Amino acid sequence: PLNSSIDDNGHLRIGGLDAVALTKEFGTPLYVFDEDDIRERCREFKREFTGRYAATHIVFAGKACLTRAIAKIVASEGLGLDVVSGGELEIARSAGFPTDAIYFHGNNKSDAELEMALEYRVGRIVVDNSFELGRLETMAARRGVRADIMFRIKPGIDPHTHAKITTGNIDSKFGFGLDDASAAAAQAMKSKNLRLIGFHYHIGSQIFEIQPFLDAMKTTLEFMARMKRELGFITEELDTGGGYAIQYLSGVVPPTIGEYAEAIVNAFRDECRRLGLAMPKLSVEPGRATVARSAVALYSIGAIKDIPGIRRYACVDGGMADNIRPALYCSQYEPYLANRMSDFAGQTYTIAGRFCESGDILATDIKLPEVKRGDILVMPVCGAYCIPMSSNYNAFYRPAMVMIKDGKARLIRRRETVEDLTRTDLG
Ligand code: LLP
Repeated sequence: PLNSSIDDNGHLRIGGLDAVALTKEFGTPLYVFDEDDIRERCREFKREFTGRYAATHIVFAGKACLTRAIAKIVASEGLGLDVVSGGELEIARSAGFPTDAIYFHGNNKSDAELEMALEYRVGRIVVDNSFELGRLETMAARRGVRADIMFRIKPGIDPHTHAKITTGNIDSKFGFGLDDASAAAAQAMKSKNLRLIGFHYHIGSQIFEIQPFLDAMKTTLEFMARMKRELGFITEELDTGGGYAIQYLSGVVPPTIGEYAEAIVNAFRDECRRLGLAMPKLSVEPGRATVARSAVALYSIGAIKDIPGIRRYACVDGGMADNIRPALYCSQYEPYLANRMSDFAGQTYTIAGRFCESGDILATDIKLPEVKRGDILVMPVCGAYCIPMSSNYNAFYRPAMVMIKDGKARLIRRRETVEDLTRTDLG
């Protein structure tokens, strides 16, 4: 992954720095990000999409991993930002992210969040349901502003990914069904304080197949043609969400960003032509594919437990509270030993975390060299949906994050301390 190599001591190097030395300096568990790699991914998305259709806007889905440092990098690459809460909006704003490039999502936004979105004049409020539409209308009228909105719709497509990250199905909690969206569009068109810009869908995450993206596109463009026919509504922007799969495991290779872009933009162009629609602006919202492969997690190995003939555990100093993905989605990872990258991996281990759950397993039956206490385990591909989904379960401290740039490591999130744990506990 990322800009990595192996040095003469068999140590993993990330962005030119010795991963083992980083753990000495910053402790473990440690999440190490490579700034150049994040920038390269931002540029790859821009190049591959805008090269095929200039009016494409790349929007980073902040839920994948949002800190102020990451927000600044993404902003400086000219991407927009998808936020899903007042908290994400505040982080972005405090990093100076231009609010007119922010898309505010969420299936149950609070009044305070909607007010915040209006106050900060975010670029798009992505309305999820008719309750929200009514409330937003009232709030915008009270403020005497006109807000740009989109509707999230459910195209009813199965993306063949894990059920817990499937979102565009008809019984999904997210978005309007098509008939409801049609009624809401008629309502929004009458509004003085809301301006309906277009539609959004997001069918799921870590989607390997290209066909579901095309099916969702086709269904939505047909819906847009219907809106034009029935209401005279012309869609200005179509936001196609994220969901691009990335490689976690050797041998399980998803399409490239270019391959996704080629298929999606072609389908977009062809279907618009077939339906007699002028091509609206297109937006795509990659989260995982922007940052996941730009970081690794480093852990120290502590206890090693051999259950003869059955299983050998190597226990690390983190686990499900900083990476819930194996427990929640049965996600698989291929860890290595950062201090012994060149050693022959001839033994089978299960990597256990340190949390009080039997399900706290980061990887099952993986091959490593004979593990010793003090070895550094590296979990590749940990830049997305690890730290943002982390918790203080068992009152452990959330890990630190460092960003590597120009051969230097900078702490972008310090390790939590006991003060962080007790700050909100009023006794
Ligand atoms: N846009 C919207 C509206 C979304 O809900 C999401 C992700 C994205 C974009 C970005 O999707 P991506 O490109 O990252 O697939 N925690 C799960 C993934 C949840 C994704 C939620 N929504 C995981 O760790 O696999």
